[in-house]
Amino acid sequence: MITKIINVTGNEVSSNDDWAKEAAQVIRAGGLVAFPTETVYGLGANGLDEEAAKKIYAAKGRPSDNPLILHISEFSEIKDIVKSVPDVAKKLADAFWPGPMTMVFEKADIVPYGTTGGLDTVAVRCPSHSVARALIKASGVPIAAPSANASGRPSPTLAEHVKEDMDGKIELIIDGGACDVGLESTIVDVTGPVPMILRPGYITKAMLEKVVGKVEVDPVIVATKPDPNLKPKAPGMKYRHYAPKADMTIFEGKSEDVVSRINAETEKLHAEGKKVGIMCSEETKAMYKGDVVFSAGKRSSEAEVAHNLFNILREFDECNVDYIFAESFESDDLGMAIMNRLIKAAGYKKTKV
Ligand code: TXA
Ligand code: MG
Repeated sequence: MITKIINVTGNEVSSNDDWAKEAAQVIRAGGLVAFPTETVYGLGANGLDEEAAKKIYAAKGRPSDNPLILHISEFSEIKDIVKSVPDVAKKLADAFWPGPMTMVFEKADIVPYGTTGGLDTVAVRCPSHSVARALIKASGVPIAAPSANASGRPSPTLAEHVKEDMDGKIELIIDGGACDVGLESTIVDVTGPVPMILRPGYITKAMLEKVVGKVEVDPVIVATKPDPNLKPKAPGMKYRHYAPKADMTIFEGKSEDVVSRINAETEKLHAEGKKVGIMCSEETKAMYKGDVVFSAGKRSSEAEVAHNLFNILREFDECNVDYIFAESFESDDLGMAIMNRLIKAAGYKKTKV
């Protein structure tokens, strides 16, 4: 299969555009279209067509028990795909849709088990990206879309990343430039008495609690090592995502201690002829002696760090480093989402210095 790429840039985007009609045609015919959202690129198919969903799993190499998120273009479209919309969900949708938040509901019968990984619940998101919304509207169906990476690789934040992983496997890539947020959506389960975060993202616990009061966090998310007794409520969280090719370790501690420890480890590896990549903050970038040193951004701007994270992990693969050392970006806000991704990329290897 030859994968076509269409560039769609500029603010004036509509579901009547030629690109949208062409992409919608592919979706309705049961094919696959990768498209930009404000979080990461999605790999879209008709969410009500089980056969189309199967193609997503095949293209990604994704285990079939890992459910897909259904994307809608307007809140009103939700009534077709869920059993009911609890009050908390209405409040959260009012506050954060369209935007980088996904909610888990009881599914309506029309949603096939092939898209929900056999679950009776369905994850739904209304993205804010104009290209995503135009595509969904033009298609006239909810679009099932996981992140458009090959299973196990960092989520794509640029169309080039999608091409790296999906070229020849899907019909179409819509290139809408870089994704703003750079991390996948916050997932909130609204089926229980208290809303629960199943995956942290740009919409933080504090932001959710401002709107609906108490919010719980799936204990798996804050675990510092894999625990066989903890079963994540989002099936996808059990897999080792975001894995760079090199062996990766995170170092946590006072800034100057982390810098000297990473430099000492780097020197040892250099003596063995190894290539070392370092992911740090703008403040410390000049202090490192690694072969490639990437700053994720200023510590004062967590959004910048989130935006750059996945791109940097892919860059390390390009540079063929043998080891990656990363600073920790722990915090109560966006740091929770950033560290959730980093700790998995590192296979839970974190050293306190
Ligand atoms: O930002 C995002 O959410 C991106 C863009 C494309 O929308 N999508 C995305 O999809 O990250 P994916 O498939 O890579 O991650 C979806 C996560 C998985 O961990 C999956 O297990 C979980 O959502 N999930 C989906 N449906 C679920 C359900 N019914 N119950 C619990 N978890 C669910
Ligand atoms: Mg994913």
